[in-house]
Amino acid sequence: MHSEFPIDKNVIHLNHAGLAPWPKRTVEAVSRFARENMTFGSHRYQRWMEIEDSLRELARCLVNAHSADDIALLKSTSEGLSVVAYGIDWQPGDNVVTSRQEFPSNRIVWESLRGRYGVEVRLADLDRVTKPEDALIALVDNNTRLLATSSVQYASGLRMDLERLGTFCRAQRIMLCIDAIQSLGAVPFDAQKSKADFVVADGHKWMLGPEGVAIFYCHPRHRDSLRLNQFGWHMVADRHNYDRMDWSAAADARRFECGSPNSLGVHALQASLSLLLEIGIETIHKNVVSNIQYLNELTDYLGLECITPRHQNRRAGIITFRHTDKDNRTIYKRLKEQGILCALRAGGIRFSPHFYTSRDDLERTSDTLENIINSL
Ligand SMILES: Cc1ncc(COP(=O)(O)O)c(C=O)c1O
Repeated sequence: MHSEFPIDKNVIHLNHAGLAPWPKRTVEAVSRFARENMTFGSHRYQRWMEIEDSLRELARCLVNAHSADDIALLKSTSEGLSVVAYGIDWQPGDNVVTSRQEFPSNRIVWESLRGRYGVEVRLADLDRVTKPEDALIALVDNNTRLLATSSVQYASGLRMDLERLGTFCRAQRIMLCIDAIQSLGAVPFDAQKSKADFVVADGHKWMLGPEGVAIFYCHPRHRDSLRLNQFGWHMVADRHNYDRMDWSAAADARRFECGSPNSLGVHALQASLSLLLEIGIETIHKNVVSNIQYLNELTDYLGLECITPRHQNRRAGIITFRHTDKDNRTIYKRLKEQGILCALRAGGIRFSPHFYTSRDDLERTSDTLENIINSL
């Protein structure tokens, strides 16, 4: 067992695409922070600020942003998407291209613009297509202002070719907004190579952090032009000068953070990211690939239909499969009863192991799944 993940021996955690467990050091960071609050109140506030700066820098490394000034700490992926959607100066007739397979947060926010700004939302169908980027690009026209996609689709596990989309969007002067929650922390990510305009991801999945603290990357070219909709003491340039009556928005991405930070979440996510970056995303990715490969062989052996694409470049940490004859909901329920945490998605069962998932856990999963199927 990995020493950072002393998970109960009766639980096998294959739900990192849902809600991840915390590493030991994250629990310790939160406990230390809680004890400090109890004992010293805000006496060590300066140190808390340093943890926040450190988190911003770790997030910068993780997305390969040019500068930590490009990173804001928000409360969720949905909030980041809303900051983008309600920050753009939409013109009547503009459209947004995304897909039917997106998680609701990355569709609803764009659809919400229809009534207020007359923005059209075009939904590509990525189901079973071999070139999903082409399906998105086919919907683009001269009125397309933004293309929104997940880096990895939450249900099927399909991994998008972000560099291809980024190159296309940049050439067409279309903004590219990436929901990276299903890949950051498991798969290498590069905001610069993918030519992303916006990237957002909450910490509670592959980044092994808590809910309620999200990384938001905004390309510096959009920082001034994105209209601000949330205001407060924290988003101004001279934030600690409370007597000052005039104000301007901070020059860096902190301008998107209107009030007091989520310090509890910041302490937790900083600890989780420090672990991931110490191990290295390349190493993490290698383990994730190997675990997915194991589970893919298992689905083949059991004659299950694999919904996730097979090509390694087309998948990340998710493998979704279904039994074509037996009730997948029942299989899922039985897995859960036996301590195997997974999810029901895309009409099948979604397994999402992380880098530390042990071979022993995968073998136990294999035996359990086979027994359940044979018993139905
Ligand atoms: C692709 C994707 N985007 C967004 C979300 C929701 O993120 P948040 O709760 O941070 O808004 C999820 C959650 O499952 C998701 O899978």
